[in-house]
Amino acid sequence: MRSYRKLLTRSTAVGAVALAAVSLQPGSAFAGGAPTPRPGGVHTKVVGGTKADQGEFPFMVRLSMGCGGALYTKDIVLTAAHCVDGSGPNTSITATAGVADLQDSKAINVKSKEVLQAPGYNGKGKDWALIKLDKAIDNLPTLKIAQDDKLNNGDFTIAGWGADKEGGDQQRYLLKATVPFVDDATCQKAYGDQLTPGDEICAGKLDTGGVDTCQGDSGGPMFRKDDSGAFLQVGIVSWGEGCARPGKPGVYSEVSTFAKDIKAAADKLGG
Ligand code: ARG
Repeated sequence: MRSYRKLLTRSTAVGAVALAAVSLQPGSAFAGGAPTPRPGGVHTKVVGGTKADQGEFPFMVRLSMGCGGALYTKDIVLTAAHCVDGSGPNTSITATAGVADLQDSKAINVKSKEVLQAPGYNGKGKDWALIKLDKAIDNLPTLKIAQDDKLNNGDFTIAGWGADKEGGDQQRYLLKATVPFVDDATCQKAYGDQLTPGDEICAGKLDTGGVDTCQGDSGGPMFRKDDSGAFLQVGIVSWGEGCARPGKPGVYSEVSTFAKDIKAAADKLGG
C-alpha cells in the first residue's frame, strides 16, 4: 500500500484519485461554477462540513496546483511537501487569499517566488513545505503554529476548498468541519507502518466516519484555539485512505514536530 502511495505523482492528475485509496494526490485547480447541490437538499459539504463565513479563517490560502495552505508570515505560505515539486526558485504557483469564495472580486492573488520543500522529504512523513510569495500580503493575519505538543488533542477545525466527498469536485466556497483527535496507537491500528507517528497526527470520527478533509485540501491547516483564544495550527492536511471512511482517520503532518525546522526554513527564505 505504501509503495503504491509513493508511486503516485501529482502530474497523474485528478483521475488517479479514484484509483488511489491511500493518496497524497492534491485536487485540480477549481474550474469555476458552483458545485451541484445534492438531491434531497442535505447540505453536508467538505465531507461533513459547512460553508465558512467570509473572514472566519483569514489566514487560509488556496494554491493554484489544487492545494490549501496557511499564511505563516505575510509572504510565506505553509503547505504540504507533496503539493510542490521540490525546492528552488518558482514563479508558477498562484496563491489566492482573503476570500472564502474563490470567485470573489476581492480575492488577493499573489505569485510564488521560491519554494522550500521539507529537507529529506521522500513521501513518508515530513510532509511540509514553504512557499515564498512575490509580494507580502499586509492586511491579513497569519496563523501561529504549535511549538510543542501540549495542544495536540481535543477537537480540531479543518477547512479547505477540496472535494466534498471521495472522488468529488473541488469547491468554490471554503468549507469547514470539526474533527476529534485520534491517538497514535489507534491510528496505527488503522494504517500500520504507513503511519509515521512522530511526524503525523490523526483526526477523524473513527466510529462513524462522515467528516474529513479530502483531495484538494492537502497543505491546508488543521487548527484549534490556544489558551488565549487565538487560532493555533497543529496539523497540515496530508493523506488518508479514501475520505471520511469509518475507521480511517485523516492523517496530518504534526506541526509541533517541525516547528523549529519550519522557522529555520522561513528564516532562510528571508521571511
Ligand atoms: N492528499 C490529499 C490532497 O492532496 C489530502 C487527502 C486527505 N485525506 C483524508 N482522508 N483526510 O488533497
